[in-house]
Amino acid sequence: MKNVMILTGAGQIGMAVARRMGTGMKIVVGDKKTDNAQTIAQIMNEAGFDAVPMEMDLSSRASILNIISEALKYGEISMLVNAAGVSPSQASVETILKVDLYGTAVLLDEVGKVIRQGGTGVTISSQSGWRMPALTAGEDELLATTPADELLTLPLLQPENIHDTLHAYQMAKRCNEKRVMAEAVKWGKRGSRINAIAPRIIVTPLAMDEFNGPRGDFYKNMFANCPAGRPGTADEVANVAELLMSDKGAFITGSTFLIDGGATSSYYYGPLKPEV
Ligand SMILES: NC(=O)c1ccc[n+]([C@@H]2O[C@H](COP(=O)([O-])OP(=O)(O)OC[C@H]3O[C@@H](n4cnc5c(N)ncnc54)[C@H](O)[C@@H]3O)[C@@H](O)[C@H]2O)c1
Repeated sequence: MKNVMILTGAGQIGMAVARRMGTGMKIVVGDKKTDNAQTIAQIMNEAGFDAVPMEMDLSSRASILNIISEALKYGEISMLVNAAGVSPSQASVETILKVDLYGTAVLLDEVGKVIRQGGTGVTISSQSGWRMPALTAGEDELLATTPADELLTLPLLQPENIHDTLHAYQMAKRCNEKRVMAEAVKWGKRGSRINAIAPRIIVTPLAMDEFNGPRGDFYKNMFANCPAGRPGTADEVANVAELLMSDKGAFITGSTFLIDGGATSSYYYGPLKPEV
């Protein structure tokens, strides 16, 4: 029996993290697009990893339970990498909330029930959530602790309170960070750790859809005027994941790490600050 990693989201960020952390493990690669799962598994297998692809839909509890039971056939689950998601230019408000918000909550909850002692996980949230004004303490607590199956009935997530797909995405990613805090308490009872990484803007197919979507100019301006002066790469996200998932991060759990080339700093205190 092997140590098993579940990778949800066979995209560029997911693969970069899996390649960094998955040496010697069985890597179960789930994606709604089976082609993506197969492609990433093949690239990894041709590079010496042991990956197996499967169809998996993050918005479905049944599908999440299915990938967990598939993973358990190979051994104990010791790592979770959740890099599945849809962006504001790719999906409707309803789909974004179902995949990015609800699906992530269910996945963290279910993997947290079976993760091996000493296991680690990361979920990819987004810097986008950091640009949204603060919610009230009560709203944050609801996002953190409402049972996953009731999350989408919360008043703050109803259509009349969500302005557009960007707002839905920001709420979803804010929720991811709050769930990670609440889940860290539960995962800790198993000696395990869970953290989030909030990137922006990392060149991947998802980011390309944003560059070519209605907010394209906004994003191009963002990386031109952030302190780093360029977009980031999935391998740089993997650098953060390596810290969080390895023993070097043993004292880090329930945290969200921002990796955005300083875009958030510039948004508040530099040239990216919105005009009032
Ligand atoms: N690229 C960026 O700049 C950036 C910034 C902030 C956050 N993120 C987040 O990083 C994560 C990974 O995105 P990426 O940039 O690597 O994009 P990517 O397009 O390379 O990968 C995303 C993958 O998620 C899969 N997916 C979509 N819906 C799914 C579902 N319902 N179930 C299972 N899989 C599904 C897609 O098919 C795709 O393979 C996403 O959650 C995204 O929101 C990315």
